[in-house]
Amino acid sequence: MKRGEESRVILFATQNMHKVEELRAVLGSCGYSVEPVDTPKVEIQSSSLETIAAYAAIIAYNHLGKPVVVEDAGLFIDALKGFPGPYSSYVYRTIGVQGILRLLEGVSERTAYFKSVIAYAGPWGVELFTGIVRGRIAEEARGSQGFGFDPIFVPEGSSKTFAEMSIEEKNLYSHRARAASKLCEWLTERTL
Ligand code: IMP
Repeated sequence: MKRGEESRVILFATQNMHKVEELRAVLGSCGYSVEPVDTPKVEIQSSSLETIAAYAAIIAYNHLGKPVVVEDAGLFIDALKGFPGPYSSYVYRTIGVQGILRLLEGVSERTAYFKSVIAYAGPWGVELFTGIVRGRIAEEARGSQGFGFDPIFVPEGSSKTFAEMSIEEKNLYSHRARAASKLCEWLTERTL
């Protein structure tokens, strides 16, 4: 590794390789590579994705001793008053995609949004970058790509679910790509 190259590597504390690939595609375009790192996962109870991501990033930074990114995301369904929101991971593991479809049976108002918060902790403290994509919950699960609730989320401007899209296409809309573009801008400003 040449001098200076190390600072162009963003460490990402996650075990979700889908998230790593999505971030790689965006950060690659501003000259950064993304490497997953294993850190003890500490997720505090909070109704705010910002608070969850910020705490997790600070703890991961203290553990690693190197700047590190943590990302926390959630699906907010309007007809369910924002549920599952910050509890998306638990809800995905318990009732899953089919459970959400059952909760929305006979419901015509199917609007929802995904929100992503990227927290980047380092000697500067912690910087937060957020991204939102609005869309709707499909009537049935479609597609086999991606992860989580991708098979039932149709972003505004498309008729496909995220699970019917390649990473490049999902990134044209996704909450995570929007948050990652803001991180790109911040990184670029700091290295000018
Ligand atoms: P996490 O805690 O940030 O991993 O995300 C919580 C849950 O939200 C995950 O288990 C997924 O079910 C869901 N989720 C977050 N981002 C996405 C996405 O981009 N597509 C589909 N589901 C997502």
